[in-house]
Amino acid sequence: MKVLIPKSKIARRIKQLAARISRDYSGKKLVLIGVLKGSFVFFSDLVRQLKIPIEMDFIQVASYGALKKSSGVIKIKKDVDIPLVGKHVLIIEDIVDLGYTMKYLLKFLKHKKPKSVKVCSLLDKPSRRKVKVHLAYKGFTVPDKFIVGYGLDWAERYRNLPDIRSIRK
Ligand code: PRP
Repeated sequence: MKVLIPKSKIARRIKQLAARISRDYSGKKLVLIGVLKGSFVFFSDLVRQLKIPIEMDFIQVASYGALKKSSGVIKIKKDVDIPLVGKHVLIIEDIVDLGYTMKYLLKFLKHKKPKSVKVCSLLDKPSRRKVKVHLAYKGFTVPDKFIVGYGLDWAERYRNLPDIRSIRK
């Protein structure tokens, strides 16, 4: 495994993203929604850098492994608990790969009548994208390699690694 993005670089980028989000949503009712499980490290680092008041919640989609990845069949495993009506929603994700998960979540959350829904993803793997997804905030673009660490797993392992690492395919 080789280090693709060291923790110092991740921390610097998160400070920049948090500054932009704090500026863009100043004076607005903002709810950050973390997509479990992968986003948990990014989420916790990002929220602690924000300079504005926020609400937070989490959502989880059922993973059907290879089937989910190839077919785009997605289901909600854990819904958000707090009302989103009239609030601005920012979805916090660790990585957008094929794009199916985010496309589904955007549609699902829009049904809850928020004022706006946007996406903040630490990582973007555009080379694999199957459906178009707009990332309002993005940390890094990554190559088509298997990526672990900083929340991302390989069979539930390596989520706790502080750097983002790649496993050669
Ligand atoms: C990963 C990642 C995104 C999704 C992206 O989650 O965290 O939620 O896949 O995939 P897509 O763009 O190809 O749809 P995963 O299903 O591995 O669950 P996890 O977050 O619990 O690790």
